Amino acid sequence: MLEINQLSKSVGEKIILDKLEIRLPIGRSLAVVGESGSGKSTLAKMIMALARPTSGSISFNGVVAPQHKTSDFKAWYRQIQLVFQNTAASLDPRMTIMQSIEEPLRYFTKLEKSDRKQRAAEYADLVGLPSMLLTSLPNQLSGGQYQRACIAKALILKPKLLVCDEIVSNLDVIHQYKIIKLLQKLREEQKLSLVFITHDLSLVSRLSDQIMVMKNGRMVELFNSEALHSEDRHPYTRSLLETAKLIGRRNEEDSHIADMVKKTTISI
Ligand SMILES: Nc1ncnc2c1ncn2[C@@H]1O[C@H](COP(=O)(O)OP(=O)(O)OP(=O)(O)O)[C@@H](O)[C@H]1O
Ligand SMILES: [Mg+2]
Repeated sequence: MLEINQLSKSVGEKIILDKLEIRLPIGRSLAVVGESGSGKSTLAKMIMALARPTSGSISFNGVVAPQHKTSDFKAWYRQIQLVFQNTAASLDPRMTIMQSIEEPLRYFTKLEKSDRKQRAAEYADLVGLPSMLLTSLPNQLSGGQYQRACIAKALILKPKLLVCDEIVSNLDVIHQYKIIKLLQKLREEQKLSLVFITHDLSLVSRLSDQIMVMKNGRMVELFNSEALHSEDRHPYTRSLLETAKLIGRRNEEDSHIADMVKKTTISI
């Protein structure tokens, strides 16, 4: 269980996160949605222990997030991994995709090189990355392929929680659909908990059990995904929904995209 209690972050006078409360049981998924600047990436960094809270706490399965140089960051990163929006900077441009995917195994395990390579190939396969791309450099991949490589690298240590920060925002609608399908599959097969961060509400209802809407560092509301279209939704959530032109369109669009994916031979 991911437990976030009264989490706040300020930089100088500016409040970036204000008393967030989150409970995410194992194997469940939470979408975090809000417009640009609402604090989503700051929250992701906090969960990854890349930034320290001003107050409040984060724990995972009863272990508190490391905060000091002496803390056990290694144990934290074995359980929680991040795939983030700034894709161009996620993989080392000088390393092949194979080297990037197996890199965490070099730091965190004592596996022999041949075993590391075998496991990297398995994870590339799991995320649908063609094996011939393993010898490529990152700049030779399409946006969707690049994100798959990042997901494979994040999963190779078998984390229990994956935090995805805007990982499909730069992709066209077909590749968005494929990555979301992949995350659905991984959640089911790997019993992975998922925090899926996006500014686009139309992407999340099929992927998440719960949706948290944020504005200006605060939680506007938290609800079960099935209740996305309920009349009880907060006016701000409704305005986000309208922006995404979601109402009444999503199911139609999903089947349309699925049809397109079947018909086209676009490589993944
Ligand atoms: N280190 C920092 N110092 C000062 N302000 C910061 C810092 N990090 C983030 N902020 C501010 O905090 C707010 C939230 O930023 P954050 O990157 O978390 O937003 P976001 O919801 O991820 O936005 P986007 O959708 O554009 O990615 C922004 O106003 C940002 O300028
Ligand atoms: Mg962000």
